Amino acid sequence: MKFIIINGPNLNMLGVREPEIYGKTSYAALEALIKDTCAEKNIEAEIFQSNHEGAIVDKIQSAYGNCDGIIINPAAYTHTSIAILDALKAVGIPAVEVHISDIASREDFRQVSYVGKACVKTIAGAGLEGYRLAVLFLWEMVK
Ligand code: DQA
Repeated sequence: MKFIIINGPNLNMLGVREPEIYGKTSYAALEALIKDTCAEKNIEAEIFQSNHEGAIVDKIQSAYGNCDGIIINPAAYTHTSIAILDALKAVGIPAVEVHISDIASREDFRQVSYVGKACVKTIAGAGLEGYRLAVLFLWEMVK
């Protein structure tokens, strides 16, 4: 089984970026958490981060025929990107949306998730643990 885990803009700045919202843990530590969780279940994990919308669309397209599940934190593109929504719909691979913060209790402009409309589940507000929960949910779903 293979999952592709995609993180959007500014998530490479984890640990530095607004630590009161996103915590003090680094992006490298998040990658290790995801890899360890996948390893527990014998899942191959490809982890990708980009600050560019088109690169995220390309990565989703590359997943077609090549993986069993997608975990995506589109970051700010969550609230703007119909291109990422369409890419997820195009490949038809089960996808889980993750947000470190609880977007529902933040600014008005974070209340809409376009990307979430193509996802089987959204996990928000659980911190980095949300990625672990997403891996386990998706594994249960596709195993
Ligand atoms: C985020 C929430 C988004 O609104 C924000 O733009 C991010 C991170 C989260 O993980 O909580 O960059 O996706």
